[in-house]
Amino acid sequence: MPREIITLQTGQCGNQVGEVFWQQLCAEHGISADGILEPFAVEAAGDRKDVFFYQADDEHYIPRAILVDLEPRVINGIITGKYANLYNPENIYVAKDGGGAGNNWAHGYEQGSYLAETFYDMVDREADGSDSLEGFMLLHSIAGGTGSGLGSFFLEQLNDRYPKKLIQTYSVFPNSEKTSDVVVQPYNSLLSLKRLTQNADSVVVVDNGALDNIATNKLHIRTPTFVHTNQLVSTVMSTSTTTLRYPGYMNNDLVGLVASLIPTPKCHYLMTSYTPFVAQGVEASVRKTSVLDVMRRLLQSDNMMVKTAPTKQSCYISALNIIQGEADPTEVHKSLLRIRERRLAQFIPWGPASIQVALTQKSPYVQTAHKVSGLMLANHTSITTVSILGGI
Ligand code: GTP
Repeated sequence: MPREIITLQTGQCGNQVGEVFWQQLCAEHGISADGILEPFAVEAAGDRKDVFFYQADDEHYIPRAILVDLEPRVINGIITGKYANLYNPENIYVAKDGGGAGNNWAHGYEQGSYLAETFYDMVDREADGSDSLEGFMLLHSIAGGTGSGLGSFFLEQLNDRYPKKLIQTYSVFPNSEKTSDVVVQPYNSLLSLKRLTQNADSVVVVDNGALDNIATNKLHIRTPTFVHTNQLVSTVMSTSTTTLRYPGYMNNDLVGLVASLIPTPKCHYLMTSYTPFVAQGVEASVRKTSVLDVMRRLLQSDNMMVKTAPTKQSCYISALNIIQGEADPTEVHKSLLRIRERRLAQFIPWGPASIQVALTQKSPYVQTAHKVSGLMLANHTSITTVSILGGI
């Protein structure tokens, strides 16, 4: 039985990241921009399209996605673009006055109460259309008004209405090196953090500062834009869901995946790293991609999507490596031993001191130059040092 996941996209950032994410999922499952299965994609290809898509009466695939924004620009771009026919129009909401939340958390939150009924309609319809709903994924930024304020409202409502369903968020944190135009950014972030702490089961922290550094240092893009950084975020999102979409023996549901990473419910802020990076046809200069190489790079701070300031006492609470491609289990075993010998990762003394590894296949429809690639999802104590000040 599929374990469906409903994705909620709020605000400019949430919708822009979501747009790239759905494009990538379509490419990986052989689904065209109109939602039709490509002729080269076999119906029974061993993948589970139904976790993120369902089929309409005319058999075309529709994402289980709800798009909400208080200003029309981004969503109008999506519904007039190449992927216009992909989404269910009933699941798209743009505020009538279209003024946005003016970078004000309270305004976004307040708007939530006015559109609560519309929101329940969309979510309940999607939830009732699922056989065995597993949970929700929220994409948003914590610094603007809509993603943070409206996102916070949605989080509270979801937790209240679906207390037994898992809520995972991909939360974009502001770049702490860039001076922000928005003075209230830290307040927006702080108010969102409270809701993320109280209402989400797992928060994947994506730091715009770290993304910019990766784009500049690893991909050699001089002035990275959201087009580049969103590709990185979408790669992380799609890889972290591969074990659900190409199920194997382990980690094939979101609850299992999250449970193995979060031993105590309040420590639910996760960081990620990925290697080797690819963006817009630019490939990072990684020459050799053996399993050991990939696993070693995943532990390096310059591959992390979060900028932290670890101390000597900082350590991993848990870590999961998702390795894609031609990986031999004996190589994995050897790599884990080598990492332990070299003391490349410090773990908490009160838990299993090892990295969990999930081997998954790559999509047969997306060609990559590397034999092996990997993503690490980690619960690390240094997450407490992430700055939300956004350059102020
Ligand atoms: P309002 O504009 O007040 O209605 O809220 P909003 O939620 O739409 O604002 P937005 O999503 O633009 O939030 C601002 C924060 O998100 C800033 O820190 C931006 O750097 C970041 N941001 C905006 N768009 C993107 C994007 O496409 N990708 C990434 N990675 N960050 C983004």
